[in-house]
Amino acid sequence: MSTTTSFATLALHTARLTLRPTAPADAAALLAINADPEVARYLSRPAWTDIAQAEARIAQDAVDMAAGTHLRLAVEHESRLVGDCTLFNWSRQCRRAEIGYVLGRAAWGRGLMHEALTALVGFGFGPVMDLHRIEADIDPRNEGSAKTLERLGFMREGLLRERWIVSGEVSDSALYGLLRSDWARRAQSS
Ligand SMILES: CC(C)(COP(=O)(O)OP(=O)(O)OC[C@H]1O[C@@H](n2cnc3c(N)ncnc32)[C@H](O)[C@@H]1OP(=O)(O)O)[C@@H](O)C(=O)NCCC(=O)NCCS
Repeated sequence: MSTTTSFATLALHTARLTLRPTAPADAAALLAINADPEVARYLSRPAWTDIAQAEARIAQDAVDMAAGTHLRLAVEHESRLVGDCTLFNWSRQCRRAEIGYVLGRAAWGRGLMHEALTALVGFGFGPVMDLHRIEADIDPRNEGSAKTLERLGFMREGLLRERWIVSGEVSDSALYGLLRSDWARRAQSS
């Protein structure tokens, strides 16, 4: 794929959700989600504390999305931003990327992230990104995240010990992988 492909106007639609690029007007909603210590409990960085963190990320995403180097989409439900999901660390040579996702606490437990990630993963394995493999690195204590990945067909492939230190807390990484062939088989059987 050309390195000039832009994701700046990308939108994905599911039964309940719209996935679209973040915009400056999303800063307050993104801060509210990411400042929640329950949401940030198992993330690779501390909870946000300042609107400037949301604004900086939105600005950086606009650059990366226009350049097509990184894909992050806001998850919108009933016209409100409830979270976001991303394909990052994209290696074009190896046709792989990492997946990440965050949902505000009020939206948990309704399968919304499953619905969002089904669309995101489908896009990743589709003709634009043409990925061969998608991987995830999660805290093994994050049961909701592990179930979300397993429901999509990701396989747990390994455990890296004491890989992260966030706010002084040391944690392990559980690594998960989903191959394009896994996804195709899953689509055939459902
Ligand atoms: C992980 C997350 C995206 C899950 O989203 P969600 O839309 O609430 O997920 P679902 O409603 O599809 O629930 C997924 C499964 O996890 C289970 N689950 C959710 N939270 C759980 C928890 N705290 N402990 C145990 N299981 C949990 C649900 O019961 C469900 O199980 P089931 O498939 O057997 O019914 C969401 O909880 C979240 O954003 N958490 C904070 C950020 C985060 O940790 N992101 C991932 C970083 S790797």
